[in-house]
Amino acid sequence: MIAPVISLVGRDFIDVADLKRTDLRRILDLAHEIKAGRWTERPLAGRHVAMLFQRPSHRTRVSFEVGIARLGGSTTTLTGQDVQLGFRESVADAARVLDQYVDGVVARLRAHEDLLQLARSSEKPVINALTDRSHPCQVLADLMTMEEVGGDLARQHVVFIGDGNNIANSLIEASAVAGFALTVITPPGYDPQPGVVDRARSIESGNFRVTLTNNISFDEATVIYTDVWASMGQEDERAVRHKVFGAYRVDQALMEAAPRAIFMHCLPAHRGEEVTDEVIDGPRSVVFQQAGNRLYAQMALMAGLFAT
Ligand code: CP
Ligand code: NVA
Repeated sequence: MIAPVISLVGRDFIDVADLKRTDLRRILDLAHEIKAGRWTERPLAGRHVAMLFQRPSHRTRVSFEVGIARLGGSTTTLTGQDVQLGFRESVADAARVLDQYVDGVVARLRAHEDLLQLARSSEKPVINALTDRSHPCQVLADLMTMEEVGGDLARQHVVFIGDGNNIANSLIEASAVAGFALTVITPPGYDPQPGVVDRARSIESGNFRVTLTNNISFDEATVIYTDVWASMGQEDERAVRHKVFGAYRVDQALMEAAPRAIFMHCLPAHRGEEVTDEVIDGPRSVVFQQAGNRLYAQMALMAGLFAT
């Protein structure tokens, strides 16, 4: 198998909705091959990737660093104190400087608008490693995990329960591109971004099967997915959110209402808040398989984006 040819505007991977269904298929196929040990090429040999992190990260940083090394490339990782995007220099200037040194950029930025500015200003491919709006690399690994456990994505029904945040937004786009059913259950006032829903609905080759609701019900769910109630940057709202989201916790009773469903979480988890220990450590939880698949899904993505 050769590295996937991915037709992305500007060769940037900003959102799942940037991918055509065929591109997504190529990435997932290669990810499975890499994990099975059947694809061991090193298309990033001699290439260098800059990683910018304005927010903390465990999985994303380590899986990208390891993945780039396994593909034969090297990395420089810059955290908050190093670049100080928008403070020490503008996002556009920083992008133009990085262009002089590196072959690609992986960026976790606070504001999605800054990521778009970075991608517009850089001639090199840029990968979104999470913003306040989306987390597309996480969702690539989630889709890979769903295929491993449940096979054909189009036959699956994901129920996301919690905050209509970056993970929910990327799942909505993934649902439209990959064709699985998705129900997003949020408390009133914590819905996913309307712009994301509109974009997903308008995907040409897509299949819009998304339901947004405030009612907790799980008929036919094959996946129950949750995430933290207060994302990075929302720490000040934690007490308020704790009260609002109390009824939306994934506990054993909730899992029993969805007897066929596996449990997914992007991690890090706030145990005892959005999910109980019993569920996240239980037999239907695939959270560590999900975390592991970050490596393979991102390697497949980078083989397509950074190697040419
Ligand atoms: N799921 C995820 O992106 O984890 P980190 O924030 O630790 O990278
Ligand atoms: N919604 C979470 C995801 C962390 C991977 C956050 O943005 O903090």
